Amino acid sequence: MEITNVMDQAIAKQKLPKMAYDYYASGAEDEWTLQENREAFSRILFRPRILIDVSKIDITTTVLGFKISMPIMVAPTAFQKMAHPEGENATARAASAAGTIMTLSSWATSSVEEVASNGPGIRFFQLYVYKDRKVVEQLVRRAERAGFKAIALTVDTPRLGRREADIKNRFVLPPHLTLKNFEGLDLGKMDQAADSGLASYVAGQVDRTLSWKDVKWLQSITTMPILVKGVITAEDSRMAVENGAAGIIVSNHGARQLDYVPATISALEEVVTAARGQIPVFLDGGVRRGTDVFKALALGAAGVFVGRPVVFSLAAAGEAGVRNVLRMMREEFELTMALSGCTCLADITRRHIITEADKLAVMPSRL
Ligand code: FNR
Repeated sequence: MEITNVMDQAIAKQKLPKMAYDYYASGAEDEWTLQENREAFSRILFRPRILIDVSKIDITTTVLGFKISMPIMVAPTAFQKMAHPEGENATARAASAAGTIMTLSSWATSSVEEVASNGPGIRFFQLYVYKDRKVVEQLVRRAERAGFKAIALTVDTPRLGRREADIKNRFVLPPHLTLKNFEGLDLGKMDQAADSGLASYVAGQVDRTLSWKDVKWLQSITTMPILVKGVITAEDSRMAVENGAAGIIVSNHGARQLDYVPATISALEEVVTAARGQIPVFLDGGVRRGTDVFKALALGAAGVFVGRPVVFSLAAAGEAGVRNVLRMMREEFELTMALSGCTCLADITRRHIITEADKLAVMPSRL
């Protein structure tokens, strides 16, 4: 049987304990944004060009100076050993086999050193800034020493979003797992709480005072370039440029933080316009198909990251599952390129798609 992303989610649901599956799948509150992250893609249509020689298609690209095989990368998702015993190690191997970048979560169930030991591969490290800045400094240094190439600084999580499934389940890590990067610092355990154990952990450890000055501070303690993950407005796009970010990730945290923010694909264009080509803009959130990748690139993204498909395929089939998802996305994206008349990423233009806003702008002239 041919496995697709959607199938993987169903298999993951069968295989995983309810608490784990719900943690991976759910979004914040009404999950309006969760649904919208997908639906907004479906409202964007193509304007394909024909009779162009598409016998050769090149989808390679460069991200922060690193050459990768495709503009599809792995987003940071926490607690991957809850999905599969090999967890982040399997993901790291699958990403490097696919020739693309993996972003490791601060809240990985494998340490930066362990993940780095999986052979060559370009890896980024996602950072949550803790109240104890000594802890942050140490962790950033360890990531740098282990060969991670960039920091993805998550800026949308001063507090954890209200994920009602986790509250109902009183979510907590299974007893055999810890937040490995923090283990030696006595911060690796998540205690049971009256609601979500993770929400309590965040309330205790994550620094709510985080502000733009800390982006500067981070630059002072590392030479790694910093991607600001969680920008969804033009205003913050400018701030990111002005504060020395190396790039922006348009993200609503997979719709797990503030509900009723727009889909990332709807916010992308204003962020790209405000960045004025000064730094690259990436996107994550609801990317499930090659057509989604194309739409994001047509709206100015330099690449995309995928979250849940990786976790679900990891649960379904470990490293082979993640390899499979990355292969499928690659093949679909290549096909979309061919059917749109594009032979390399530079061929993809804004005129290859039509958005809701375009339709509104066009209508009056047609009356
Ligand atoms: C996440 N995300 C996330 N982001 C982050 O900066 N640090 C983290 O530890 C996590 N952990 C995490 C766990 C799970 C289970 C999910 C689903 C998401 C957000 C993630 O990096 C990314 O923004 C979204 O997952 C992208 O949306 P899709 O592809 O899941 O729709």
